Amino acid sequence: MKVLVVGSGGREHALALAIARDDVVEAVHVAPGNPGTWAMDTKYGLDHHTELGEKIRRLDPVDATAVVELAQTLATDLVVIGPEAPLVAGVADEVRAAGITCFGPSKEAAQLEGSKQYAKEVMTAAGVPTARSAYCTTQDQIEAALDEFGAPYVVKNDGLAAGKGVVVTDDRDEALAHGLACGQVVIEEYLDGPEVSLFAICDGTTAVPLIPAQDFKRVGEGDTGPNTGGMGAYCPLPWVPEGLTDAVMEQVVGPTLAEMANRGTLFQGLLYVGLALTSNGLKVVEFNVRFGDPETEAILPLLTTPLGQTLHAAATGSLGDSKLTWKDGSSIVVVYAAKGYPGTPDNTGTITIGDTPKSVQVIHCGTTFGANHTLIPKGGRILAITAQGDNLNHARERVYSYIETIDYPTGFFRPDIAAAAAQGLIEEPTI
Ligand code: AMP
Ligand code: GLY
Repeated sequence: MKVLVVGSGGREHALALAIARDDVVEAVHVAPGNPGTWAMDTKYGLDHHTELGEKIRRLDPVDATAVVELAQTLATDLVVIGPEAPLVAGVADEVRAAGITCFGPSKEAAQLEGSKQYAKEVMTAAGVPTARSAYCTTQDQIEAALDEFGAPYVVKNDGLAAGKGVVVTDDRDEALAHGLACGQVVIEEYLDGPEVSLFAICDGTTAVPLIPAQDFKRVGEGDTGPNTGGMGAYCPLPWVPEGLTDAVMEQVVGPTLAEMANRGTLFQGLLYVGLALTSNGLKVVEFNVRFGDPETEAILPLLTTPLGQTLHAAATGSLGDSKLTWKDGSSIVVVYAAKGYPGTPDNTGTITIGDTPKSVQVIHCGTTFGANHTLIPKGGRILAITAQGDNLNHARERVYSYIETIDYPTGFFRPDIAAAAAQGLIEEPTI
């Protein structure tokens, strides 16, 4: 099987590494990719100075015609679309229309991520537990909703915002300002309790869960500062109640797939369920329609089931009763971001990465080549360093001792990813 992964971030690099471990996969290319994935291509004899290499490196993921053409040139058996923007733009529909198997929801189904309000409507119709909310387009509506739900205020841009559309604050003026700046917003009640990300691979009617992970959304140590796309993650979660995955499949994923089918909008692809385990039970914070980043970088190294075949089965509606199998032990990812992120990132300077031990992977998220083939930062989140160990403490030791060896003076990372869980400080919530 030949696989084309569309995208250029850490998620796509991690997906490609996992898909490449599948015995039936003869080739996996990532387009436009990044220096991490281009290095993988040498395995298949592809040089990025060739015409085909150029085509791969220059692909615009939202240009459906270009994606289809590249998939045809590469004789691809399966296209996996990584990020939300091409999904929401309908690229998966075009790939399928060209007769190529594609893992990723249709444009319409991708509205589960593309519009917070659409997601709320589906959840309400499906009886999925989530925060009470109001959709607002005027200042009066925004103010009324802020006062109804009270502090802490949760204000969400209705559309895609690259992980930066949500403001959670005690400051009513800041909440109001964000609401006015966005124009169309969902304002909702604040959900307390720890957050969990649970991913389900869906074939339209059936779904198979991955292991729950926890992401660290805030930029600073001790969960301080603004929200980001995610600064680190780990799995499995030693503190989650037994039965959490079953409960989410029963209360959230199953009813959502059924409701989407009812609407004639089968959901095929990855359903990312962002949950809060509140004192009133589990509640959905958000849906995304693609693998989460950086959770994917932590989760996939533990997967032992062949991923290429699983995604192909989902894309062809034939998951059946497949189950995924996992290695023992723990996995962690720590994001090395550019100083200034999630504001304007400082992309000066170079990055030097030495040899990596077997239990560590350096995943590229936002890197490119500068003059003389030096590696340089490009974007907010630059590298994702993952490590596995017998337990969380072991995985943490490995990742943090390795990350110190990377020479990246304009970067920073959170030193406390998974620290509380490793010390047994997270109380088991009830669900
Ligand atoms: P979203 O884009 O909806 O995932 O929101 C980003 C982050 O904002 C979430 O991961 C939470 O940390 C936080 N958040 C979103 N909605 C709520 C809520 N209702 N209550 C508390 N925190 C929230
Ligand atoms: N880790 C958060 C996201 O992928 O949206």
